[in-house]
Amino acid sequence: AEDIPVITIDGPTASGKGTLADVAAHALGYVVLDSGSLYRACALAADREDIDLNDANAVAAIGANLNLSFKRGRVWLDEDDITDALRLEATGLMASQVAAHPAVRAALNQLQLNFRRLPGLVADGRDMGTAVFPDAALKVFLTASAATRAERRHKQLISKGISANIESLRQDLENRDARDKNRAASPLHPALDARMLDNSLQTIEESVELLLNWWAETRPFAAQR
Ligand code: CDP
Ligand code: CDP
Repeated sequence: AEDIPVITIDGPTASGKGTLADVAAHALGYVVLDSGSLYRACALAADREDIDLNDANAVAAIGANLNLSFKRGRVWLDEDDITDALRLEATGLMASQVAAHPAVRAALNQLQLNFRRLPGLVADGRDMGTAVFPDAALKVFLTASAATRAERRHKQLISKGISANIESLRQDLENRDARDKNRAASPLHPALDARMLDNSLQTIEESVELLLNWWAETRPFAAQR
């Protein structure tokens, strides 16, 4: 698998990682990995079984046996459609709790490596470039100001008919980022060889164009679309 090209996009909450990963993967015809959804699904599955989220080994066992399927843009856990539950901020918070356990990370890393398939992979999360795919050919660390990120998350929720308060969203984002940055196991930080991209003032199209240009410089053959 080492010769299958990988692009990683890491960064804080609501910086636009998932959107950039999806659009870039689509443009390149690559597989996409939303690693955060695995942490979210693992937390939901453990919570559903009434497992204490502080019990690292019990949660890791759930993570190693996750029965997830991705069908027609929906995500299923066993027989349940968890697509909407997955995106709740409460789920993000639980995900960040279980993500601090090294045993859980080890279980989910195995699943993540399986996404490295031809013709290539775009993977987004917190430790894609630092821990899971350290040999990725292009690593992007995507940031945006906290105010911008809170606004974007707010819009996203409103469009789904969920009401939310911008100030408390911003608090939630900043608390979760602090936890992700300060944990011992694969904390959120840019890889030494990552390209830094602050997209606060960029449209998605502008970020995609920049990433594809970087990719064309890195892997000229892969940029032919
Ligand atoms: O995956 P992550 O949590 O980093 O963020 P996302 O879900 O991709 O993006 C959060 C929201 O910001 C989405 O609704 C995007 O459409 C929006 N966004 C934006 O408005 N402008 C950008 N340049 C990037 C993302
Ligand atoms: O979309 P958003 O940026 O809010 O979150 P996410 O990417 O779905 O990740 C949810 C949580 O899972 C994060 O706050 C991290 O604690 C954890 N996570 C992680 O530890 N490592 C990853 N590669 C991806 C997510």
